[in-house]
Amino acid sequence: MKVRNRAASPELPAGVKKMTDSQEEVEGAMTPLQLYERLNAQGEQVRCLKTAKAEKAEIDVAVQLLLKLKTDYKHLTGQDYKAGCPPPENVVNQDNGAATDGIDEEDNVDPWNVSTSNAKGVDYDKLIVRFGSSKIETELVDRIEKVTGQKPHRFLRRGIFFSHRDMHQVLDAYEKNKSFYLYTGRGPSSEAMHVGHLIPFIFTKWLQDVFDIPLVIQLTDDEKYLWKDLAIEECHRFAVENAKDIIACGFDVNKTFIFSDFDYMGSSPEFYRNVVKIQKHVTYNQVKGIFGFKDSDCIGKISFPAIQAAPSFSNSFPQIFGGRKDVQCLIPCAIDQDPYFRMTRDVAPRIGYPKPALLHSSFFPALQGAQTKMSASDANSSIFLTDTPKQIKNKINKHAFSGGKDTIEEHRKFGGNPDVDVSFMYLTFFLDDDEQLEKIKQDYSSGALLTGELKKILIETLQPMIAQHQERRKQVTEETVKQFMTPRPLNFKL
Ligand code: TRP
Repeated sequence: MKVRNRAASPELPAGVKKMTDSQEEVEGAMTPLQLYERLNAQGEQVRCLKTAKAEKAEIDVAVQLLLKLKTDYKHLTGQDYKAGCPPPENVVNQDNGAATDGIDEEDNVDPWNVSTSNAKGVDYDKLIVRFGSSKIETELVDRIEKVTGQKPHRFLRRGIFFSHRDMHQVLDAYEKNKSFYLYTGRGPSSEAMHVGHLIPFIFTKWLQDVFDIPLVIQLTDDEKYLWKDLAIEECHRFAVENAKDIIACGFDVNKTFIFSDFDYMGSSPEFYRNVVKIQKHVTYNQVKGIFGFKDSDCIGKISFPAIQAAPSFSNSFPQIFGGRKDVQCLIPCAIDQDPYFRMTRDVAPRIGYPKPALLHSSFFPALQGAQTKMSASDANSSIFLTDTPKQIKNKINKHAFSGGKDTIEEHRKFGGNPDVDVSFMYLTFFLDDDEQLEKIKQDYSSGALLTGELKKILIETLQPMIAQHQERRKQVTEETVKQFMTPRPLNFKL
């Protein structure tokens, strides 16, 4: 994993013990320059806390971490850390033990890249430690069931949403009749959405239903303009097209506001004020540490994280929350978006807002295997929401990586490996029946079920699911899109 994923956010886990653990992990594989930047960011954090007259305990913790980083720096480089004096290149203290642990280098997770050399996919338990988030334990799933009175969604039952921040706190408040709102989003980089893109939306729709709460969906057409070789008009058009697929997931128009950044930023003074407030309280050093920005990156990229952070604060939507700034936000998203929200959670108390809570999902694997996620720019790696039944069948039969054996005889004798089998993985996302899924797993492992048969089950699960999606999308008119995308009051009780 690249170091920037694990570093630089001053947003830390709550318990001091855990903080130490994760920070040890954090510093493990940094280069001198990265550690130097991490130190700069931490120094800045301490200064900010002092200026903001934060609690003494909070300052102490930040100072302790700063001291520890200084020790690590000395250990790594053989030199003392001095602000303003970056380490010379290649200044590694040869006999220090704090180098990489080998396995770490396999996983690379950030908002723009996801890859691992492990066929089972990214090591999510390690990611939790790195990012300093919390695992979604059975206890939390049971609690969600108790509070909502609904059977937990299969994404929760099966650990597809596997990590969280502050979810217990959200439930505590909800039990005391203090409600919250949901925020999620999508970067509209093309017209083509694939099944992997639906995961956060399917789950968000379920959350909206079981908690009966409002939802805002950000379409970051500005982000895609900044990062891709696309015209503004194209990005905006993709936003509107993607909105149709999102609406087809079944969101309640009375409880959902979908917005394009290009449209909403210009029409909402409150939203823009929050963007600028965030920009004022996050330094270049911090975003460089969190996102790995380079000197050659345009300044639009460098300031963009503030735009993705702003919807986490309820007063960015006065038409919905009537100017209240204290409504708690819960963000369901894929774990690669966490850097944005570590930054958001770090800045929130300094500008007088509650920190957003988070629920993180794992990635939807590419057809070729869990080493990377499904990508819209590689047609063979993806099943698109526009694919015909025949295309779905052909892609799965031709490209879905199999954990089966080479010959039928061997497969019958030794069985297949569902842990690396992409068809099986997809079924864990989309086949709702737990017993049926378990039986498939056992039969495949024992060799009773062949790869072709497993693929057939997946094909027959996906074909109707996608056909139904296409049917619902057809019903979404320009008028419906306009309704969802118009700033207006929503229907809910806080
Ligand atoms: N940056 C995200 C992407 O490229 C889009 C996004 C904006 C988002 N706000 C979000 C995703 C909130 C999840 C939650 O897809």
